[in-house]
Amino acid sequence: MKEQKKKKAGPPSRLGKWLALLPAGCVFLYPLYLASQLQVAEKSYVHPALPRPFDGLKIAYVSDIHWGSFLSDQRLEALIEKVNALEADFILLGGDYAEDADGALAFWQRKPAFKAGIATLAVFGNHDRTLPENHFPRIQRAMKQSGVIPLVNDVWTLEKEGSTLSFSGIDDYYNGWPDLKKVARLSAKADFSIFLPHTPDVLPDVYALSEKPFFQLALCGHTHGGQVAFFGWAPLSSSKLGSRYLSGWYREHGADILVSNGVGTSVLPVRLGARPQIHLITLQCE
Ligand SMILES: [Fe+2]
Repeated sequence: MKEQKKKKAGPPSRLGKWLALLPAGCVFLYPLYLASQLQVAEKSYVHPALPRPFDGLKIAYVSDIHWGSFLSDQRLEALIEKVNALEADFILLGGDYAEDADGALAFWQRKPAFKAGIATLAVFGNHDRTLPENHFPRIQRAMKQSGVIPLVNDVWTLEKEGSTLSFSGIDDYYNGWPDLKKVARLSAKADFSIFLPHTPDVLPDVYALSEKPFFQLALCGHTHGGQVAFFGWAPLSSSKLGSRYLSGWYREHGADILVSNGVGTSVLPVRLGARPQIHLITLQCE
């Protein structure tokens, strides 16, 4: 009796090989894909203290662009186009324009063409405030040559029909010389105050200064929403406060705080659970 030969399984088809790779590929490719999927987060921000003349003002907030090896010239130009298309009265730039001071200087020397109805204001991030120290004034000069107002331990005020709206910024909390007392003193004169620290890590210092913060609204970046986050927790947080101010809106000591996921990425060009974002905030009286 002839023994029946067992059929050997043939080599997997090319399609089979690709399908076998798919789950592993998704795990690595999806975070890369997500890092490029910029969203516009819109909010009507209602506050009882907002003076009537500022009702309806539109603010575009953009932080942590990190132009460089993970965010190309092409993506930067697309970002600027997207921000300008929002037709905001103010464009507020939250810092970390590149990976270091060399990159930040090159970023501003390109003269990025942000176009706001009233003004574009910018603060420094920890990456922009790296060495050499003499890049600090050079970056500020380049900002001004681009038509952008740098806010370093200073306040910029809009007056309209007898009311004042102020925007304040400090030198970077980690790598600079922030002067909170000066900014608090200058902001106290305004009817409504918006504070632009790069990082929310400075907020406990503000509360230590005074129980009632000198601003009604703070717009922050720095955390990147954790970049990789799971249900409000980031395993690798750039904040000394961990996930306390990871992402989104907070209310503390009577003030409102927005922590943006930001636009770009640092360390690796990946995101998960923290989609890149810019913000369009419309100020409204109650
Ligand atoms: Fe950043």
